[in-house]
Amino acid sequence: MYPLGFYRDKNGELSVQNIKVSELAKKYGTPLYIYDSEIMKERYDIFFDTVKEVKGSIHYAVKANDSINVIKFFSKLGCGADIVSIGEFEKCIAAGVPANKIIFSGVGKAKNEIEIALRNNILQFNIESEEELYDIHYIASKIKKKANICLRVNPDIAPRTHKKISTGEKETKFGIDFQNVKEIYKKLHELDYISPVGLGVHIGSQIFDFNFFNKAYFNLKVLADDLRKSGFMVPSLDLGGGIGVDYKDDIEPNFIEYKRILSNLFLKSDYKLSFEPGRSLIAQAGILVTKVIRNKKTKDKNFIIVDAAMNNLIRPTLYDAYHKIEHVEKSESPKVTADIVGPICETGDYLALERNLNYIDNNKFLAIKTTGAYSSVMSSNYNSRADAVEVMIVNNKDHQIKKIDTIKDIIAKEKLIDFD
Ligand SMILES: Cc1ncc(COP(=O)(O)O)c(C=O)c1O
Repeated sequence: MYPLGFYRDKNGELSVQNIKVSELAKKYGTPLYIYDSEIMKERYDIFFDTVKEVKGSIHYAVKANDSINVIKFFSKLGCGADIVSIGEFEKCIAAGVPANKIIFSGVGKAKNEIEIALRNNILQFNIESEEELYDIHYIASKIKKKANICLRVNPDIAPRTHKKISTGEKETKFGIDFQNVKEIYKKLHELDYISPVGLGVHIGSQIFDFNFFNKAYFNLKVLADDLRKSGFMVPSLDLGGGIGVDYKDDIEPNFIEYKRILSNLFLKSDYKLSFEPGRSLIAQAGILVTKVIRNKKTKDKNFIIVDAAMNNLIRPTLYDAYHKIEHVEKSESPKVTADIVGPICETGDYLALERNLNYIDNNKFLAIKTTGAYSSVMSSNYNSRADAVEVMIVNNKDHQIKKIDTIKDIIAKEKLIDFD
């Protein structure tokens, strides 16, 4: 047997299940994303155990990693999905997720997206404005299909996370102002093709202080109880996602505390609860392997220039995110402090700054850890760079899960104009 996840084998080589990461890097080339299905299963089991007492349904937030195989894996374990575009919807269908387990979130659902989702009997729309309600009602009445509507509430809570992933404050574009929710919820009942199903919150991502969840869920419940007292049906509450992942020290979030919050608030109620975890299910399951192109030394600094770049992993430059970086093979060379940078012509193209690690020779591999979530899914072809290969390890076997766009494919998407 072998340890769970990415571990060092007896020769100090980074491995996953029974496979050496360096072998995968040689076989598939770099940059290379590797996902370990066993970590995905472990993360799902932990989340499931946390919410089972309150009978919560889990809807994997596809935005974290929209690989069809990732969606399918979680779906086979019992997850539904939380989506924010019809593209993600189609991916879920391709992955075998039943439409009646899919929640459509997002502030800007287009009319054609609403119609496709409705025709396919999607579970519910989490709506974020009164204007959206009328758009959905118009389409629902046109095709004579009732839409299940949940109101996403903006609870005006700042959960102390990076400002670009904080979604629960009133200045953000998300949700319906707390004070307007009652009035809009009443309106749902006046529309023939709308079925009100409840209220939801999602206050942001990378949340470690669970008091913020407690506050948001408590306020949501007060609002829902109040609506019920006024005679309205509020069958369900969607509690969103947002549980943080420790990229530096791998400290486990306090799931026991999360479970206690849920039990305290909801065990004695009959609300049907749903959850939308993304990052906490998939972040730790992925690594990005990259090859050193060259070491560059200036008067002031060392640079390790690698073949992965911000087009493969934008988190460091977009969110000031920290990812652990390790040698793939065993190394006992002296320590250096260096910026680990990609080949893209942007000063912001870095994967780590001022990182202290063993000196690494050209053509050797580095592993960028905890890159399962918001990583490959945010990639682009900037600088006409092809995608990274993606591989999933299942039962000791590596499976390439994505055919990559080569430069030829990228060129083939464009059409030359005859300028003569
Ligand atoms: C509505 C909604 N639900 C769920 C999520 C998933 O959050 P996380 O990946 O932090 O669990 C997000 C992420 O932004 C979201 O916007």
